[in-house]
Amino acid sequence: MPMSQPHRLSIRDYEPADAGTTIDIFLRAIRDVASKDYTPAQIDAWAKVDDARVWAQWRASRPTWLAICDGAPVGFSDLTPDGCLDMMFVHPEHQGKGVASLLLATVEKAAREQRLRRVFTEASLTARPFFERKGFIVLAAQTVEKRGQRLANFRMEKHLA
Ligand SMILES: CC(C)(COP(=O)(O)OP(=O)(O)OC[C@H]1O[C@@H](n2cnc3c(N)ncnc32)[C@H](O)[C@@H]1OP(=O)(O)O)[C@@H](O)C(=O)NCCC(=O)NCCS
Repeated sequence: MPMSQPHRLSIRDYEPADAGTTIDIFLRAIRDVASKDYTPAQIDAWAKVDDARVWAQWRASRPTWLAICDGAPVGFSDLTPDGCLDMMFVHPEHQGKGVASLLLATVEKAAREQRLRRVFTEASLTARPFFERKGFIVLAAQTVEKRGQRLANFRMEKHLA
């Protein structure tokens, strides 16, 4: 009987041509995954990219990494110079395969190389258990406003050894 193949995951740096793909992953992850934790009105307010050119500039403004599965981008994350992990989004069809784990390991490695002492993020209700599993602690629960809707999330951080 053939053994099931492990998912072939790898990481590569974001390139300008990846803007549309990262927008698609961002929107799908919110609409199909985070939607279990927020109201439809909140999801509508969050799952929007008003200007793809602004998105592209924003992504290119800090290190951003793509997770690749069998040749296709399936998730992305980033790290600002002060240690903020701003984005962690995984395509709905690739949840639970270790994609975010690999992205976070990449972010933490980069942070260590930059001698950052901590990585911090604002985690959604959906992502909080993932970050807790990875050693982040909640600093504060908060609400943020997106296009007139108020969404709960958590300021979280992880100190790097
Ligand atoms: C949160 C998210 C990034 C996790 O991605 P993922 O690739 O499925 O995560 P992984 O497969 O690497 O999971 C790693 C660990 O976290 C756990 N985990 C992930 N999501 C979890 C959840 N919602 N609840 C409980 N545990 C969770 C996994 O069980 C796994 O644990 P293990 O190491 O014991 O096996 C993904 O669900 C997502 O894109 N969510 C929607 C978008 C979002 O809210 N992004 C964050 C914005 S701040």
